[in-house]
This record gives sequence, C-alpha cells and structure tokens, in this order.
Amino acid sequence: MTRIAEGVFWVGAIDWTLRDFHGYVTPHGTTYNAYLVLDEKKALIDTVRSSHFTELVARVKEVLDPGEIDYLVSSHVEPDHSGSLAQVLALCPKAQVVTVERHGEQGLQKYFHQKLPLMTVKEGSTLSLGKRSLSFIPIPLVHWPDNMMVFLSPDAVLFSTDCYGQHVATSTRFDDQSDMGLLMAEAAKYYANIIFPYPTQAARALEKTLALQPKVICPSHGVMWRGHLPQILEAYGRWTRGETRPRALVVYDTMWHSTEAMALAMVEGIAQEGVEVVLHNLGSSDLSHIVADLLEARALAVGSPILNNNLLPPVAAFLTYLKGLRPRGKIGAAFGSFGWGGATAVKAIKEDLALAGLEVMEDELAVRFSPTPEELQACRQLGQKLAQKIKG
Ligand code: FEO
Repeated sequence: MTRIAEGVFWVGAIDWTLRDFHGYVTPHGTTYNAYLVLDEKKALIDTVRSSHFTELVARVKEVLDPGEIDYLVSSHVEPDHSGSLAQVLALCPKAQVVTVERHGEQGLQKYFHQKLPLMTVKEGSTLSLGKRSLSFIPIPLVHWPDNMMVFLSPDAVLFSTDCYGQHVATSTRFDDQSDMGLLMAEAAKYYANIIFPYPTQAARALEKTLALQPKVICPSHGVMWRGHLPQILEAYGRWTRGETRPRALVVYDTMWHSTEAMALAMVEGIAQEGVEVVLHNLGSSDLSHIVADLLEARALAVGSPILNNNLLPPVAAFLTYLKGLRPRGKIGAAFGSFGWGGATAVKAIKEDLALAGLEVMEDELAVRFSPTPEELQACRQLGQKLAQKIKG
C-alpha cells in the first residue's frame, strides 16, 4: 500500500515478469493500479487482472476490511482492470459498482454474465463520499468506449485511467522517485500503441485534465505523476497534436538480403541529408517498439520481398498493425525486391500506407533479385528525396 494523500492509497498489483501484453512487448513489466479513497463512504477505484487478485486484497486489507467498501468504481471494462471485479465484490457485500452509463453498464454485464449491483454515472455526475467527492469524466475511446477519468475533490487527485499510463513495474510509485528517461520513453510507447488511433479524444481528455489542475495524476498502469506533471502533460500536447520532428524510420524484412541492402542504402541517403534515421528489421524488432519510434517521426519507408505472390508475412503484419493505429500526417515510401512474380510488394505497401493515413510518395523502387550498384544508388537517391521532403 502507498499513501497518495490523506485517506487516499495505491493498492494495486505489480506484474514484474509480464513480457507480452496482447502482443505489446513489455520488457519492464507493468502494474495494475487500483486506488482506495476513505471518507464516510469508502471507494475502491478499479480492481486488477484476475491473476493478481490476492495481491490487491492483501494491500486493501492493510488499510481496511474490504467489507467496508461502499463503491467499486470501474474506469473501464478491460479485464486487466475489471478482471477480478466479481471476486472483489464477493468480499464487499454492500458495494455498488460505479460505471459509465454509455458502454460501461452493458460491457460489465456482458463480461461477467451475472447481475451486478450497478450504479451508472455520466459527464457531470458527482458522488459524495462525505467531506470529499468524486466527479466523473467520461473519455470514450481513450482507449475503450467506456473509459472514464475520476476526479477527487478537494484533494485534486485525478484517476486518469489509460491517459498518462506506462507499462513499467517498479518498486517506486511516483515519478519523482523514478528514472524519468524510462518513464517518458514508456509513456510514449504506451501512447503510440494504445492511444495513437484516438488523437481527438485524447486531446479532449488532456484539455479536461488541464482544466482540473490536478496535484497528482494516478493512471491505470505505471507510476503516479506528481513531481513532473508539466513534462507528461506537455508530451501529451505534442502527441495529440501529431507534432513530429525531422526523423525517418526505415522498416523492412528480407529473405536473401536484397531488400535489406536496399533498406541500408535508403538509410545512407536519408542520413546524407542530415536527417535522423532509425532502421528496424521486422525479424528482430517487435511492432510495439517500432511504433513507439514512429510516434514523433515525420516519415516511414517500408520494404518487403515477395513470398508466394504476397508480402513477406512480418511486413504484412506490421502494415495491419499500422492501419489500426492510423498515424496521420506522416510521409510514406515503399521499396522492395522480387524474383519472377512482378513488383507487387511495392504496390501493396503503398496501398496499405495510404490506408493507414500516410501521404505516400509516388516514387517506388522495385528490384529484381539482387540490387546492382546502380539500383542501390537509386535507393540512396530515394532516401535523399524522402529526407528533403521531411526537411521541406
Ligand atoms: Fe490496461 Fe485500457 O488499460
């Protein structure tokens, strides 16, 4: 248990060994944050993943008997936060489950297949706990349809659900006790993988956060923000506005190193123009790490060979992931190699990049079998042209 303010506690769970969160690679593990607010009435904000139920209960019991809890607030239905809700309810016979009217009520019933003691709230609803109160701020689609922030007055503590989260497992609970380099990198990765498709909704959530002027922000994952609030809020400002810097990503996979040679020549051409460039081979870099690098990049070049008349599967998987994230406002370029089936990879990449919302360059580079020195020079030139577009 960690004290946040008088009568406000972190009682969540630490998942030190988690390395794969439904495909999102988590080298630093994660936490499932739950918070307890004590007043005349007692509220537990969120539960934890069902695997960590006993850890949650042990922390709650450091503060009070779970049977005293009056309200169990669900910040969204996602199972890593509501997964042990039914087990917790069994320990809190008088508790009502507070959820957002739109999508929350329906979502919880559908997940738990049982009648729950639900109390629905909406924008502007408040719940008095005695001397303090909770107000509810739905932020649909950041990241589930029922996401809801909760603000505790007069303490000015914001329980921010997915906003400002980071997948890190640490022995520290606050930003000012932690490695800020790691936190900001993981906050960026979280935004890129979880919130990227919803910049408008996230901008609205940021606006509401700024208006509330919280003293502490308590997200669903990772550490709480109190010492570096301007830093994380400014970062969310940049990310929701889609601000980029002169940086390109070259992402490829290869069978017999032809596409790889093209990718390396593209990198050379981009760097020759003085633009920062990052290279990822899909055989060794995971998707969640690549899109974190893409967040503030201005351009993305994707390369693939052909396998059985199709893109190499890791490239197709990357493009599928990208189409879901829709990173608008970036420049796209395509290149690749082929043997006897024609230059169909480049066409397919261009189509998918356009569907993902990128502004795709007309130029394309497709090489049969292995690139000649002249063809590699053409790759360098395409890299230079991409860099010039970035600078322009
Ligand atoms: Fe685990 Fe949507 O947050």
